[in-house]
Amino acid sequence: MSKQDTHFFNVFSMVIGLLMAIAIGIFALARIVASHTQDKQVLEETDYLRNVDQRVAPFAQVAVAGQDNTALAIKPEAGAAQAPAGAGAMPKTGTELFQQTCSACHGAGIAGAPKAGDKAAWGPRIAKGKDVLYQHALQGFTGTAGMMPPKGGRTDAPDDLVKQAVDHMVQMAQ
Ligand code: HEC
Repeated sequence: MSKQDTHFFNVFSMVIGLLMAIAIGIFALARIVASHTQDKQVLEETDYLRNVDQRVAPFAQVAVAGQDNTALAIKPEAGAAQAPAGAGAMPKTGTELFQQTCSACHGAGIAGAPKAGDKAAWGPRIAKGKDVLYQHALQGFTGTAGMMPPKGGRTDAPDDLVKQAVDHMVQMAQ
């Protein structure tokens, strides 16, 4: 081999070696960056997570008569404010709120609650004026008979709805 050939080979192998080193370096760098970022933003994507939830959800649900079926209620969109666990869907009218919440105590007059429709129990209360009754229903009230919890415990109910439930009970006692 001539001297020139030897020189060419040396330079040529050095360039090839250098290119390989650069390629391996870029590959390693790409792996490191990927391990920190790849798939992460996908897993944080709310739309993606919702889709996964929908796909893995059981395709049928069975309501059993006489059992608690509240878990079957249609769930609000992910990220939307959730009602407290155990509370059913928000009623639309005061009468519904009364049936769902207030009647637990006022229906049969439990724990000192004035029984709905009982004129003797409600007469003196109605005499206090509706504003007082509204306020006591909204903010809670502890009298001689017992403890009325704010909004009957349904604290996520809008004020107007609670007032309508009061109206409903006042009407029942008239
Ligand atoms: C946990 C039981 C309970 C629930 C549920 C409940 N109440 Fe009462 N409520 C009471 C008791 C006990 C009293 C009587 C307090 C007293 O006078 O000592 C009362 C009293 C009241 C009064 C009369 C207050 C006054 O000034 O005399 C109103 C009005 C009233 N409740 C409205 C409601 C409404 C509306 C709901 C449903 C949103 C509701 N309550 C749910 C227990 C309850």
